Amino acid sequence: MSEARRITYTSTAADPEFRVTFDRELARIRKRFPLALGGNVGEGPVEGLPEHRVVSPIDTRLVVAEVAIATPGEVGSAVGFARSAFPRWRALSWERRVEIVRDAAERIAARNLELAAWMVYEVGKTRLEAMAEVEESADLLRYYAERLEFHRGYRRPLARMSPAETTESILLPYGVWAVVSPFNFPSALAAGMIAGALLGGNTVVFKPAIDAPVTGELLCEAFWAAGVPRDALQLVHGPGATIGAALLADARIAGVAFTGSSEVGMRIVGTALEGSDGPRPVVVEMGGKNACLVTATADLDAAAEGVVRSAFGFGGQKCSACSRVYVERSVGRDFLARLLARTRALAVGDPASSDPALGPVIRESAVASYRTYIEGIVASGGEIACGGTVLDQGALAHGFYVAPTIAHLPDADHPYFAEEMFLPILLFQEVEDLAEGIARANAVPYGLTAGLFTTDEQEKRYFLDRIEAGVVYVNRRSGATTGAWPGINPFGGWKASGAPGPAALGPDYLLNFLREQSRTVNGF
Ligand code: UN1
Repeated sequence: MSEARRITYTSTAADPEFRVTFDRELARIRKRFPLALGGNVGEGPVEGLPEHRVVSPIDTRLVVAEVAIATPGEVGSAVGFARSAFPRWRALSWERRVEIVRDAAERIAARNLELAAWMVYEVGKTRLEAMAEVEESADLLRYYAERLEFHRGYRRPLARMSPAETTESILLPYGVWAVVSPFNFPSALAAGMIAGALLGGNTVVFKPAIDAPVTGELLCEAFWAAGVPRDALQLVHGPGATIGAALLADARIAGVAFTGSSEVGMRIVGTALEGSDGPRPVVVEMGGKNACLVTATADLDAAAEGVVRSAFGFGGQKCSACSRVYVERSVGRDFLARLLARTRALAVGDPASSDPALGPVIRESAVASYRTYIEGIVASGGEIACGGTVLDQGALAHGFYVAPTIAHLPDADHPYFAEEMFLPILLFQEVEDLAEGIARANAVPYGLTAGLFTTDEQEKRYFLDRIEAGVVYVNRRSGATTGAWPGINPFGGWKASGAPGPAALGPDYLLNFLREQSRTVNGF
């Protein structure tokens, strides 16, 4: 794909030529169903336990892949291989690691259609979201490589105590990292964490989400083909509860990078003392309950577009999704009308055969949870302003489709305002003023992203000075709370949304994977 037609999260439409090309790619990969996958322990696939069938959320009759789940013993072997590979990988010059990761970025970019097409079937992303994610993945690798180069491998001369003495600060790798990634950004989040660890000179055992093993394998292929030895990047498949847990319980794991739910993330933070070499770093990105505030001075059309894009992009299954909107009462009705008009116009459908705004949600349990929330809203005296239905008729009968929903709850302190749903459900709430909106936005354990729409400078300042979130956007029509891009929007959560440490996508992310050694040497 040429640069001119590069698809990002701000893209709203694809040209007809892209559609034809993408259809061809979908047809091509469909011939390969079910793809047999076995991860990679040592130099080859695992023997594994019985196969796990990856069915497409688009249509459960489509078996996308059959995956051999690693045994706990194989997980242990993978850690062993990655540990043996560590001295060789860390001994490479930082320049060589930069070169390898840059090469991997180009391989990902060159296979963008293929990666995106698998993602469409595997997790039900729309074509544009899938393509944007592959572009983001390549950019993540390029950006982190550029950062290591910018810092010249993080070796810095420091001051001298005496003329005979020299001191240098040097940042060094820890050892083997466990990288555990979620289904919702199976390419970008995995690529970023793997590249962060590898660039720093660490080796990796990677466990992709059980729902997205194909994307995981394709990513690893790009790293291996670029020159990362297989034993330096090991790949195991399996559920988090068993295989993920076995990986994290291994005392030889020197650091953990995880993106996923707060519940699991907090447990992982609790494993920081399980390493055999003392406390180990845990880099966790967790959930969100992201609010957008709309004041009376806002451009309501821009706000409605930004909120709808962030609430319903990938069916609300982003930790950055906008799931609460607080609107100043004087413009509440007007804003809601615009929000409803845009939401009702969103098509829900099979992203492999058409170009809907929303595809399916990831699995049956997500549909069940959608039903529970809708019933809960109604039982609490709430109002479903639009949506609220499971779409299981006609062409959608075999997938997991639900309608994008805007709901209002009479009690503005209802627990749903603080619960991450990971579904296309947006809670709409009027507030007296910006101060009340910010107080409500902040009154949850999460603090990932937040948005504001205003045309007033003072309101903008007031919001920026008080909002408790790691990623904030003002007047972002292309996404009120979503769509962070490497090198542009550092992405790290506050409070229960992330652990302390430099944000992903940002200029200092690599520091998470490095430890400092100060080297003071006296000459004679
Ligand atoms: C996530 O949903 O886990 O800013 C991360 C965004 C994406 C990252 C989302 N780049 O919406």
